[in-house]
Amino acid sequence: MLTSSLAHVDTNNLDSFFMPFTANRQFKKNPRLLVRAEGMYYVTHDDRRVIDAAAGMWCVNAGHCHPKIVEAVQNQVATLDYSPAFQMGHPASFELASRVAALAPGDIDSVFFANSGSEAVDTALKIALAYHRARGEGHRVRLIGRERGYHGVGFGGTAVGGIKNNRKAWGMMLPGVDHLRHTHDPKEMAFSRGQPSWGKHLAEDLVRLCELHDPSTIAAVIVEPVAGSTGVLPPPQGYLERLREICDQHGILLIFDEVITGFGRIGAAFASEQFGIVPDMITMAKGLTNATVPASAVAMRKHIYDAFMTGPEWMVELTHGYTYSAHPLALAAGLATLDVYRDEGLFERSAALSPRFEQAIHAIKGLPHVIDIRNIGLMGAIELESRPNRPSGRAYDVFLKCYERGVYLRFTGDTLAFSPPLIVDERQIDQIFETVAQAIREVD
Ligand SMILES: Cc1ncc(COP(=O)(O)O)c(C=O)c1O
Repeated sequence: MLTSSLAHVDTNNLDSFFMPFTANRQFKKNPRLLVRAEGMYYVTHDDRRVIDAAAGMWCVNAGHCHPKIVEAVQNQVATLDYSPAFQMGHPASFELASRVAALAPGDIDSVFFANSGSEAVDTALKIALAYHRARGEGHRVRLIGRERGYHGVGFGGTAVGGIKNNRKAWGMMLPGVDHLRHTHDPKEMAFSRGQPSWGKHLAEDLVRLCELHDPSTIAAVIVEPVAGSTGVLPPPQGYLERLREICDQHGILLIFDEVITGFGRIGAAFASEQFGIVPDMITMAKGLTNATVPASAVAMRKHIYDAFMTGPEWMVELTHGYTYSAHPLALAAGLATLDVYRDEGLFERSAALSPRFEQAIHAIKGLPHVIDIRNIGLMGAIELESRPNRPSGRAYDVFLKCYERGVYLRFTGDTLAFSPPLIVDERQIDQIFETVAQAIREVD
C-alpha cells in the first residue's frame, strides 16, 4: 500500500523550471508536486494519496509503477543502456514492432519508432509527403487537419492542429495546411452517450476542401478518431467511415492520431479497430510504454512501407529518425507493457467497465453549470459553462477542489476530462465522480 512520501520536498526553490503548458506563476504560488505513485494512486509532496482519474495524461493505462514494467526497465538499463538507432539494431525493436503490428488492424504491418506523440505526428506527416514523392506524385503537398484537433507541438503537429491558443503564439505555421470543421455541435449532441447519432454529414467538409484545393494536391488527412485534448469529442456515427471513403476516392492518405485512443482506451487495442476502419497510418505514444519511458510510433500499411523499398539496396530509404528512436529502455518498457495488457486482460476490462463509467459520469447531469457530458470507452468529459470574464476559471476551481480532496483529473478550457488507468474498479469510478459532483456543487 502506498503511504509515505519523501522525507523533505523543497517547495521554495521553484524558479528555474519553466513548466510546460502550465500557468507558471499561479502554480509556483501553490505548487502541486507528486512524489510517488503506485497503481491507481499518486502521493503528493504534502503526503496525501490522490487517485489518478486521468492516467497521468491519458498514458498510464496499466497503472503506476507496475512491477513487471519496472523490472523490465531495470533489467534493460543494466544490460543494454543504449544502442545506436541508425545502421544498427537491437532485438527488442524488431520484436516490439511486430507485436504492435499484430495489434493494429488490417494490413498495417510496419512500425517506425520515435519518442513522443509530437514526433510520431511529424514523422507521419513527413512519411505521407515522401510516400507520394516516391510514387511520382510530388504534387501532393497539402495536409488537412481538423479544428479542435490536437497533434502535439512540433511544427507539423501545431500546423495541422486546430486549437486556437496553441497556434496563435507563433504567428508562422507550415504552409499548405487546411482544416476540416470540427464535429461538435452541442445543439445537436449535448449529453450524447458514446458516438452521437447526428453529424455524419460533417465529413462532407472534406469534399469541400477537395473541391477548393484540388484533391490531387492533398497528401494526407489527419484526425484523432476521438478528439481527446479538446475535451473528448467522440466521432458522429458514420463520420470516420465517410472520411475513409473520400480519401480512398482521391488517393489521399488517412492518418488516425491514436496517441490517446491507442492501447485500450476505448476498449479495443486501437480505436481504428473499434470503429472498423483501417487508416493508412496510426500514430501512437502514451500507452505504448505505459508512459514509464517515453516512446512513440507510427504504424503504416504495407503499401506505404513498400513504396520506399525501391532503388539500390545500399541507399537509406527514409532520411528521418531520432537518436533515441527505438531506445532500448523504452522498448523494454513497451514489451513488458504489452505483456501486462494481454495477461491482465486490460483492453477487455476497459470495454467491460465503460457502461459503469458512462453511468457514473452522466449522473453529473443537472448539477450547476454543467452544459454537456460526453463519453466513450474509459474516456469522458464534463463541460462547464464558462464564467464571462475568466475562461477556464470554473474548471480550474473544480480541478483544485478535487485535488485537495484526493482526486486528480485534467481540465481543458472549462471542460473536465477523465481517463483513468484501465485497472480502475467500480468503487473507484464512483469515488471519482462523487468527489467531482461535490466540487461542482461548491464552485460558484
Ligand atoms: C492525439 C495526440 N497527438 C499527439 C500528442 C502529443 O504527444 P506528446 O505530448 O507526447 O508529444 C498528444 C498529446 O496529448 C495527443 O493527445
